Amino acid sequence: MKKLLIMMLTVAGVMGAWAQTVPLVGNVLNRATTSLNGDWHYIVDVQEEGYYDYRMNPTRWGFFNNAKPQRPEDLIEYDFDAAPTMKVPGDWNTQVERLFFYEGTIWFQRYFDYQPQGDRRALLYFGAVNYECHVSVNGKKAGHHVGGFTPFNFDVTDLLHEGRNFVIVKVDNKRSASAVPTQIFDWWNYGGITRDVLLVSVAPTYINNYSLQLDKTIKGKKRFLNFSLQLNRKEAGREVTLNIPELKLKQKFVTDANGSVNAQLSTLRSALPLGSSKNSQLSLWSPENPKLYKVELSMDGETISDEIGFRTIETRGKQILLNGNPVFLKGICLHEEKPNGGGRANSTDDARTLLSWAKELGCNFVRLTHYPHNEYMVREAERMGLMVWSEIPCYWTIDWKNEATYQNAQRQLTDMIARDCNRANIIIWSIANETPHSAERDAFLGKLATYARTQDSTRLISMAMEVTGASNYVNRLQDNMNQYVDVVSFNQYVGWYRDVNDAPKMRWEIPYDKPVIISEFGGGAKYGLHGAKNQRWTEEFQENLYRENLAMLDKIEGLAGTTPWILKDFRSPRRVLIGIQDYYNMKGLVSDKGERKKAWYVLHDWYKRK
Ligand code: GCU
Repeated sequence: MKKLLIMMLTVAGVMGAWAQTVPLVGNVLNRATTSLNGDWHYIVDVQEEGYYDYRMNPTRWGFFNNAKPQRPEDLIEYDFDAAPTMKVPGDWNTQVERLFFYEGTIWFQRYFDYQPQGDRRALLYFGAVNYECHVSVNGKKAGHHVGGFTPFNFDVTDLLHEGRNFVIVKVDNKRSASAVPTQIFDWWNYGGITRDVLLVSVAPTYINNYSLQLDKTIKGKKRFLNFSLQLNRKEAGREVTLNIPELKLKQKFVTDANGSVNAQLSTLRSALPLGSSKNSQLSLWSPENPKLYKVELSMDGETISDEIGFRTIETRGKQILLNGNPVFLKGICLHEEKPNGGGRANSTDDARTLLSWAKELGCNFVRLTHYPHNEYMVREAERMGLMVWSEIPCYWTIDWKNEATYQNAQRQLTDMIARDCNRANIIIWSIANETPHSAERDAFLGKLATYARTQDSTRLISMAMEVTGASNYVNRLQDNMNQYVDVVSFNQYVGWYRDVNDAPKMRWEIPYDKPVIISEFGGGAKYGLHGAKNQRWTEEFQENLYRENLAMLDKIEGLAGTTPWILKDFRSPRRVLIGIQDYYNMKGLVSDKGERKKAWYVLHDWYKRK
């Protein structure tokens, strides 16, 4: 974690061009912020008229100027104030009907008031913008960002003035081969400023990010907390206080030449059974006991608070151990999509709805696919006692030979870990899904997996491999990436994309002494469509598929968990069977309205027995 925090400081220094680019600030939800969410004006700009001139060179007369005619003869061919508005955060596809299929550039603009506060700095923070964006404040460039599912921020203090200011964001969600994700993916390419926009007020020197994790070591009655912290500057001698009132733990630290703190604190472990909440000593986070401690970090009279749980996660042979005890991951996959056709989920309420459905199913684990979901989702899962698999969208056939693509993927991985490094419920970082075997792919993902461990050595690393065929009913998992992961996970679609009704005959060979997760299986059904169990799209077909697959899973040696595909029917441009799919992937166990299909009960019963 120390390397992660320092590395981010160095990157910021280099990019002088965007002098405002600073390290990603951690725990933004508990900082002094002003929300810029709300109604933003938008201009649809199919040919990027607002960015390029007719020779396709970036123009200085672009829309980021928010120009107004000064004299009657002045020619200004855009006017944000006259333009319609839509909600931010939100996607444009479900807010404006004629933008349902739109992929391209849309400009967003809003005004906001700002009052300078002495020498304090102002960071402009975006929870996520899909996919690529250029941000400007008062007509001056603030920064650029690529990647639709991770946060970023710019120091815009020097661009602001007292009173009314404006921010303009050019958003482009066009897909491309060298992007991450690449050109094709089985989810809706929701475009827009899809998560919160915040103005964060910080002192000139502030605590940028920190990590507080329970160490696996147990010495007699003692447990140890590993604490690391990074300021926004390499400044020595700054005093920081860490306070965990409930554990009567209050300690002062002084930053080193890098502006960092790296320390280990000891605390007493619970005398009562692990995880018991009755004892005021350390109570460990688990699905049965999602205990979070109030934690306060103070410097120069300013305090950041957080809610942090303490637990350990590791593997032993084919077992996954949570707090030293074997655990079976009763999971489900889900996309970050509101029910009832609602587009991108981006609030605690959205999270609570989706995660309650997972809990009702009997889950203690969710695979958040195929990209980092919003922070509300992760924190709500933590409060609800749901362990999490979090993933970056190295999905299908990424441009493995392209260094810029690798840097993009690594940046998304860095930011995913930096944002959620203190979430006790995140147990697995996943670096990829269903990627084709090749030397280039192995090199790319091998490097990414190794890098992930430099960012966080406390969690498990995995990826969703795949088994797409059997010979003589024997399914073999063979993947060079097995050496880089802690948990071997793979997707298999026996009964849907292959070998219908052959699950009972299937045998599995997984030649790795590591825990196994079946990270996807399933089949489609239209809620309310009934018929014979061999009739595609009926609830009976899906129900039977689940029965047969779960019986097959029961025979897989070393199975430590599963996350069937998928909790809820979700939008996909690849699902065009009218009358059945209507641009929805129908593999949900509940419909988009939350209606339970027959297969729901099969999985629910299986989890009850687990
Ligand atoms: C794949 C993939 C999913 C996709 C699913 C399906 O395994 O990982 O993103 O939606 O299959 O085909 O339904």
